[in-house]
Amino acid sequence: MSNLDTIAPHGSKLVSRLVNPIQKQEFLSKAEHLPRVRLDERAASDLVMIAIGAFSPLTGFMGRADYDRTVSEMRLANGLPWSIPITLSVTKEVADPLSLGNLVRLDDPQGNFMGVLELSDKYSYDKIREATNVYRTNDEKHPGVKVVYEQGGVNLAGDIWLLDRHPHPEFPTYQIDPIDSRAMFQAKGWKTVVGFQTRNPIHRAHEYIQKCAMETVDGLFLHPLVGATKEDDIPAQVRMRCYEIILEHYYPQERVILAINPAAMRYAGPREAIFHALIRKNYGCTHFIVGRDHAGVGDYYRTYDAQYIFSEFAPGELGITPMMFEHAFYCKLTQGMATTKTSPSKPEDRVHLSGTKVREMLRKGIQPPPEFSRPEVAAELIRAMQEIQETLYEI
Ligand code: ADX
Repeated sequence: MSNLDTIAPHGSKLVSRLVNPIQKQEFLSKAEHLPRVRLDERAASDLVMIAIGAFSPLTGFMGRADYDRTVSEMRLANGLPWSIPITLSVTKEVADPLSLGNLVRLDDPQGNFMGVLELSDKYSYDKIREATNVYRTNDEKHPGVKVVYEQGGVNLAGDIWLLDRHPHPEFPTYQIDPIDSRAMFQAKGWKTVVGFQTRNPIHRAHEYIQKCAMETVDGLFLHPLVGATKEDDIPAQVRMRCYEIILEHYYPQERVILAINPAAMRYAGPREAIFHALIRKNYGCTHFIVGRDHAGVGDYYRTYDAQYIFSEFAPGELGITPMMFEHAFYCKLTQGMATTKTSPSKPEDRVHLSGTKVREMLRKGIQPPPEFSRPEVAAELIRAMQEIQETLYEI
């Protein structure tokens, strides 16, 4: 099979900003004398995403032209669709001493040398404009907007290099970068692959929409996000364990690849759905699942806003096909998973549990019904919730 058999990355070329051994030596020898910027968790994960090509065609943190057009029009300066600003935002005090054209040493949140930025631009930006356009709200209680309001007011821009691609400390075997996932899809002979984004523990509705999609494509790329999430989201370790369990019991394993998405969650709803799709395109997916309230939080977005936004792009422009699903539930009438598209049920015929209700049940050690969650997954969630509570009490 030739390379042409996998879908083209966004912008047609898969970016790699991992240093070669000679560059690494050069950067290490200069490191002590370079000005330093310490990255927060999100910027550190963005650095990795750029370096491994998951954010292709970006080769660094956005300059003003890309930033402005992304915020206002969901496009890079060259017109390519792009919906979320990727910025290294620092305070004026950090930015002021840095000179354009120079190298900046980027440290991870613990202070370890992580990468290098060739500073080509630094600019201030309007936080309220970013919030209103990207998150569709200027409410500081929105978790994504809160990050924007709390970060520094100057964006540092330029090409980056990542010093080392370390194995993920918790999920080394699931760290599959775009170059690897593309090779895996080819080796399996998958011509069509559907990507699934998630930040929640798997439940029956997730399983249902994944399997509906699997009926029409060659493979499923399960891609839970393991970068920064809000504090009350279930930890990635627990979510990954649930996936291992459910795959063992309920999926044809040869048709599924489980891998981690190292990105940070923005909770930007519709705009993030586009972003999530483009990332999965870079991993080699041809299709991408968008269900109800994708990447949403609270009541900031309507149930299907994250689906409607795809129609703002011309057919083929995104280069990945969204697979849209309505709100799925267990239908007591037809005795199976369904949506209003496939069952004549009334609301009272549907098993529906809110996230808050499920969390409360799990905390009390009560298993949600099997129509909501596979029993093996529910048992693991109860075990994990109790462990988390014990840790909290210890603190
Ligand atoms: S997300 O923030 O990553 O979107 P989540 O992990 O809950 O959150 O959702 C993963 C994917 O499943 C998203 O595409 C979402 O729209 C979809 N989804 C979640 N629950 C349902 C449901 N009951 N019916 C249809 N789609 C759903």
